[in-house]
This record gives sequence, C-alpha cells and structure tokens, in this order.
Amino acid sequence: MDKIKILIADDIEETRNVIKKILNLEKKLFEVVGEASNGEEVIRLIPKVNPDIILMDINMPILNGLEATEKITNEFPYVNVIIMSVQGETEYLKKAMFYGAKEYIIKPFNYDALISTITATYKKYRERQVSLLIKQEERSKAKIISYFSSKGGVGKSVLALNSAITLSKEDSKKTLLLDMDLLFGDISMLVNQYNQKTIFNAVDDGQVDSYENMKNYLYKYNENLDILFAPLNPEASEYINRDSVEKIIKNFENYYDVIIIDTGINFDNNNLYILDYSEVILFVSTMEIVSLKNTKLGLQVMESLGYDKSKVKLVINKFTQNYGISKSEVKDVFTNKIFAMIPEDQKIVSISVNSGQPFCDNHRYYKSKVAKAIKSMCKKLVE
Ligand SMILES: Nc1ncnc2c1ncn2[C@@H]1O[C@H](COP(=O)(O)OP(=O)(O)OP(=O)(O)O)[C@@H](O)[C@H]1O
Ligand SMILES: [Mg+2]
Repeated sequence: MDKIKILIADDIEETRNVIKKILNLEKKLFEVVGEASNGEEVIRLIPKVNPDIILMDINMPILNGLEATEKITNEFPYVNVIIMSVQGETEYLKKAMFYGAKEYIIKPFNYDALISTITATYKKYRERQVSLLIKQEERSKAKIISYFSSKGGVGKSVLALNSAITLSKEDSKKTLLLDMDLLFGDISMLVNQYNQKTIFNAVDDGQVDSYENMKNYLYKYNENLDILFAPLNPEASEYINRDSVEKIIKNFENYYDVIIIDTGINFDNNNLYILDYSEVILFVSTMEIVSLKNTKLGLQVMESLGYDKSKVKLVINKFTQNYGISKSEVKDVFTNKIFAMIPEDQKIVSISVNSGQPFCDNHRYYKSKVAKAIKSMCKKLVE
C-alpha cells in the first residue's frame, strides 16, 4: 500500500509535534507532507503537497477549521478532512461534518485512536474515489445524465421524459432514455405504451451482454430517441442487479450522444452505481418544505459520496410564487446553485400525463412556459 500522505493543521506547535511523533512511529504507513498553523495556509499547501488526509483543528486564527473544511470540500473534493476538536464542541463538530469533514477525533487522543481513525477514513473514502476516477476515465461517448430525488412525486419522470424528447428533437442528439426506477417506473405510461418489452425481459432472457442483443428490447419513440422501459411490476426488480445495470449502460453508451436515466428514490446498489457513473445528476425538488428538507439531506449524502458540486445540479420543479417560500430563500438553504427552475403548469402537465402525449412533443404546447423552461435546461446540459 502507498503511504498515506498527511497534512497537519493546528495553531499550537506542541500539538503538531505530538501528532508528528505518533505518525513517525508508523513510518511505513504514514508520511507527514506538511504542517499549517491556520486554514489559509492549509488551502495554499494542498496543491503543493497533495495530501490524502488533513488533520484539522477547529479553532485556528485567520481562517478557522470549519471555513477551511468547506473550501476544501468545494475545491479539493478528493482530500479527506478529519476534524480534531476538544470535548464539548459538539455543535462545531456537527457543522464540520455538514461542511464535508469525513471524520472527527476528540483531543487529547491516544496513539491507537489516531492511527485507527486515519487508516479507517482513508480506506473508506479512498477506494471509492479511486474507482470513481477510473470510471470517469473509462467513459467514452454518451453524456450520462440522471434524474434523482429524495422524495417521490416531484416530477422526475415527467422531466426525464420531456428532456429526452427535447434533446432528441430540438438538439438533434441521439438519445436513450433508461427507466431505472425499477420498482415504480412509469415512463411507459407517460408515452401510452403498455405492452412493450422491458429491462426485465432483457435480463430474464440473458441478453444483457451485448449491444446487438440489448437493442431488441428498446422502444423506438422517434428517429433519435429510444427508450428502455422499467419492469411492469415491482417484484421483477429483484432480478435486476448492479451487474446487469452496469452491462446495459456500458453496452449502450457507445451508440448514443446522451443517456437520460430516471432513477428510484433510494441509495440502493443499483442507484449508487448509476449515480457514481453519471456525469451529471439532476437533483429534483419542489418548493414544498418536506421536499426541500429531504433534498438538503440528499445533497449531504451526495457530498459524502465524494461527488463535487459541478456534478450534482439542483432543479426546482413545479415552481410557483404561491408556496410562501421565495427563490432567494431557497437559494439561502442550498449552497448548490439552482441549475433550472421549471414552472408549475397543472393543466398542461396533467393533460399530457393523462393522454400519454408528452407536452414537449405537442405543437400546441411548444410555446408554454413549462416546455420553454425544459428547452433552456436541455441547452445548458449539452452546451
Ligand atoms: N411542472 C409541473 N407542473 C405541474 N405538475 C407537474 C409538473 N411536473 C410534474 N407534475 C405532476 O407531478 C406528478 C408527479 O410527477 P412524476 O411522476 O414525474 O414524479 P416522480 O418524481 O417521477 O414521481 P415518482 O416518485 O412516482 O416516480 C404528476 O402527476 C405530474 O402531473
Ligand atoms: Mg417517477
């Protein structure tokens, strides 16, 4: 194993020396690559010494440990921060974890606690990060964009479908829509197609190993858009594992410009693979307080998964002025910028859902605000 590169940040020299002494006892495992006495120095040192782990004191002058942690999460998402604090700083600790610290350790600590905290944190996050990097490098053609939410009914499927249509028609992209909401996928209903093959048939027939076989399970929506439907009943989803999902996506990605994925609302194995592998995650929320709360939690999970902010984009759907919450208040809640706001239009959306004719494919609604908002979001996605 490579040595774990550690940067020590504490304003008290004696503390730094004690930590160094402990780490030097395990020279085969650790290398102290730098020392800093305030947060600003930490930020300056990171690109120079390239640490795996930063041991960060909370209270430091100039830029304190909390602010520095927040900056690191944004600018250097692959560096793992372990916060060092004294007893009784629980509030600070919670904040530190919120800002993206991966672990904490209470001072004064002993030899064993320090060594095991560092090694466990490194192991837990490094392995995932390395595999994420490899996956990103492996990626070839299609841009993979997933719709995700941490609450049901926010409009994920309507947005996934209508943006796939828009990309295929307006932007002339060869597009694949994968309904990976394996339990409750309803894209087939939204396009009025009930007796088509689904992903379940492909898995059940043992055909997921090649593109040539898989393409027989697609529904051709238009010249540029194919759809793979979700299973017709929830029980079937049990037969579709991460391995099949991976094979399906990898088979298809060389044949499309864009793959849009509608996901389920949990972090199960299949979904985690999809989210890891996506280039962009469109996190859908509405302005309702419950949805906003769940979104905030969901975004924290994404942060702890090591996704950086440019990958996870916030989309507010069903936007109206009537929620009693303004756009600027929503902005205050989230550190992620709002990528797109899709207005509420109950009439147009309900008619299109009920008739199985998506509004982005209906000339009567081309000029509606909701269709226009989707068009401009799609432009931003492929620009
Ligand atoms: N912009 C909008 N304006 C008005 N109604 C909308 C809008 N977007 C979606 N809806 C409505 O919200 C409901 C839920 O939409 P959809 O099924 O796409 O959500 P979902 O997040 O995929 O839900 P599920 O958790 O069931 O998968 C639908 O009845 C749809 O008509
Ligand atoms: Mg849905």
